[in-house]
Amino acid sequence: MSSETETILVLDFGSQYTQLIARRVREQNVFSVIYPYNVPFEKILNLNLKGIILSGSPANVYQKKAPLPDRSIYSLGVPILGICYGLQVTSHLFGGKVKKVKHREYGHAKLHIDRKEDLFKGLPTSVDCWMSHGDQVRRLPRGFERIAHTSSSPIAAFRNQARQIYGVQFHPEVVHTPLGSKMIRNFLYQACRVKGNWTPGSFIRDTVQAIRKQVGRDRVVMALSGGVDSSVAATLIHRAIGKQLSSIFVDTGLLRLRERERVREIFKKHLKMNVKIVDASRKFLRALKGIEDPEKKRKMIGALFIKVFDREAKKLGCVPYLAQGTLYPDVIESVSFHGGPTSTIKSHHNVGGLPKGMKFKLIEPLRELFKDEVRRVGRSLGIPKDVIERQPFPGPGLAVRMIGPVTKEYCDLLREADWIVLDEIKKAGFYSKLWQSFAVLLPIKSVGVMGDERTYENVVAIRAVTSEDGMTADWAKLPDPLLTKISNRIINEVRGINRVCYDISSKPPATIEWE
Ligand code: XMP
Repeated sequence: MSSETETILVLDFGSQYTQLIARRVREQNVFSVIYPYNVPFEKILNLNLKGIILSGSPANVYQKKAPLPDRSIYSLGVPILGICYGLQVTSHLFGGKVKKVKHREYGHAKLHIDRKEDLFKGLPTSVDCWMSHGDQVRRLPRGFERIAHTSSSPIAAFRNQARQIYGVQFHPEVVHTPLGSKMIRNFLYQACRVKGNWTPGSFIRDTVQAIRKQVGRDRVVMALSGGVDSSVAATLIHRAIGKQLSSIFVDTGLLRLRERERVREIFKKHLKMNVKIVDASRKFLRALKGIEDPEKKRKMIGALFIKVFDREAKKLGCVPYLAQGTLYPDVIESVSFHGGPTSTIKSHHNVGGLPKGMKFKLIEPLRELFKDEVRRVGRSLGIPKDVIERQPFPGPGLAVRMIGPVTKEYCDLLREADWIVLDEIKKAGFYSKLWQSFAVLLPIKSVGVMGDERTYENVVAIRAVTSEDGMTADWAKLPDPLLTKISNRIINEVRGINRVCYDISSKPPATIEWE
């Protein structure tokens, strides 16, 4: 972000809602960054800081190694808002009393507002809020006054007006506090007095300038997958440096139906971009021959992708820069209280996250954006709706949606079934409501009957899930007529499939993809 961008710092103490706080700020056209609570102070001084929000935490302020912010933040002269633990830690540091409550308060509560200036300006006297805490401020620190209470939290919000320090015990960032966005807006516009000029348009302007400055007359290469992130990143860079950008699209043979043509149509024709389309499908199928283990498939595809990309990139001559579609959730240094080593569930191969061994300098124009912001920027750049609203597609493609061996015949079969699933889901108006919807080819055959004849053919499973971020997911309760239509069409139109199942498992304990 440009050094002039008004910034709100969200200090993370390990709350599950930290990212949500940052997003709520951005929804008000104000840029926000998340830093861990113990970030070196100089890093904070480098920001064009307009205010600080302290997140919640599973910790207790009175415990021995309680996470505490650098006290100097309270002397920076910018307004501070503490949320939940953020309120408690502020109270603690200023000499107030925080104690454990008998019954932890979790869920809806009625907030009675005592002072309606600044934070609660324009709100009714009594509003719904969401509580989730086991500790409470029992005595106000000197110089602070109560500005709201609930029946079980006598100090549900406080302020020190002279020093512009605020605290709320509830969570304004969650949707269960219906007027929470208004409170955050008040903090930003009444207390921090921001201008609120961070928009997709300003982001594009600043980023285009920054890319031009960084790259100069050099060239940039990137792998285009046709998904949202790499498409928006490529278009943004193309706007900045035009033909100095070369994009490479690798057809692995594991893509959905007509994907290569779609990419050519959109990027070459519509967006007038320099895209090299490489057909490596035979190479991939050859390499995958006989491999059935999901992890081996993934590793093989990831390694071969890098090899193919590397060879193509070298053909371009001297290209010092590699662009990637990395997003903010991948770079946030969050505080994890539940941490510890996590086991590898699946080895992800991501076109946006290319080779570690390659000697490129990186350009990551989306590394400060959340997914929904990337979509907004994409719309502003004029990228077709079809690309912007695309459901995610895994790097290893159909290979992980085909249990057992990967063959050309199976790929073709799955492509046809997958096309029907998406076609019907789009027609029924469900596409953008679902995180993902696709077909999976199972490694079994089953007996059926078609026109009085016995059949013995393949089975596909339909997977459709709703999700916020892919980390957890629910199976989608699609209407019967839609499932019936999908099943009928697949069995009638795809030769070689005589049975369709619907996957009714959620994540966890299942995962979204089958492999
Ligand atoms: P799972 O199957 O782990 O998937 O529940 C979560 C999300 O990640 C996508 N996925 C991938 N995306 N490279 C990617 O870019 C991969 O290797 C990969 N594997 C899974 C999956 O489609 C879902 O959205």
